[in-house]
Amino acid sequence: MATKAGLRAIPLLDLTRQYQTVRERVQAEVIRVIESQRFILGPDVDRFEQRFAEYCGASYAIGCASGTDALELALMAAGIGPGDEVLTVPFTFFATAGAILSVGARPVFIDAESASFNLDVQQLDRVLAQHPAIKAMIPVHLYGGCADMGPLMERAAARGIPVIEDAAQAIGAEYNHRRAGSIGTLGCFSFFPTKNLGGFGDGGMLTTNDETLARNLRALRVHGSFERYIHQWPGMNSRLDALQAAVLNVKMDYLDEWNRARRRNADLYRELLSGVVTVPNAPPHQTNHVYNQFVIRAPRRDELRTWLTEHGVGTEVYYPLPVHLQPALASFGYQAGDFPVSEQLAQEVLALPIFAELTEDEITTVAGLIREFYGGSA
Ligand SMILES: Cc1ncc(COP(=O)(O)O)c(C=O)c1O
Repeated sequence: MATKAGLRAIPLLDLTRQYQTVRERVQAEVIRVIESQRFILGPDVDRFEQRFAEYCGASYAIGCASGTDALELALMAAGIGPGDEVLTVPFTFFATAGAILSVGARPVFIDAESASFNLDVQQLDRVLAQHPAIKAMIPVHLYGGCADMGPLMERAAARGIPVIEDAAQAIGAEYNHRRAGSIGTLGCFSFFPTKNLGGFGDGGMLTTNDETLARNLRALRVHGSFERYIHQWPGMNSRLDALQAAVLNVKMDYLDEWNRARRRNADLYRELLSGVVTVPNAPPHQTNHVYNQFVIRAPRRDELRTWLTEHGVGTEVYYPLPVHLQPALASFGYQAGDFPVSEQLAQEVLALPIFAELTEDEITTVAGLIREFYGGSA
């Protein structure tokens, strides 16, 4: 696609390029599943769950219908419900808090810190002391960089509460050389098409090292049933489709290569944008950042965004309104100013194209446009 100025457009994400690399294999697999007429759970899902658990370094993986459902199922498995508080960060996609609301619990927030975009562990002891009803914590590995899990795991163990990793954006990401989904009590992943491992529709996965939790999750995803037509809990109807598992089994073969390409792209942006705009560096505990998003902090962000749009470059703001200020949470009484870093980030962040198939020329063009916008300096 060409822009008004005759330039070739550079989209935020172009999934058609990735599709070209997997096309034949995926089509063959999809047809095989269709021919089998076996669509719910079954061998494709089993195989993908096994591979996924192994990939993450977790003992068990349990497929479900979306990342949002994974979070909700995790909270159910952890026994979280009305009267409980769950600690999370307001600078995330709404689903993290949405799942807490769905099980009837109250979200309690800890602010983000601007160097990593993740929750600020310096504030952990204060927030925990103020909230004795916190019964679980959900750190978010935002944009593909792991939250600082060490202090969280330590405090959670002392309190005897679970840590649920929201790893929706972080497949393959590492915290001190351990993969996301293998560190907390439970890990939650999304296969929404824009994720580093994206399906052809919605899909999700839970990981855990706890055999009882794994067993209960397998029941919770089928209406709380261990035994046909006997229901222990209401649970959910939330399975990973065999068709999605077949697609994801193919794509899994390319995941590390795609993640490496995203990192290479991030390094090039860093080099080209140095001194022009704030490009946060991954903190040392993020031993492998997988760049589901590449996010800069930009002065005059909205003007920059308009400028890039006019020049055919796709960008996005993840996320323009922190969760504590969302209308869905109005009844909890949070106010503007409660979580100042998250609110500031919401004004400054801008995601640039980072997908694996992006060319060096395209990255150079995007960086050049940003330099031009700022007249060479921010
Ligand atoms: C941080 C985070 N949590 C949860 C989700 C929910 O995943 P899904 O869209 O698969 O329900 C997403 C997906 O966008 C996400 O980015």
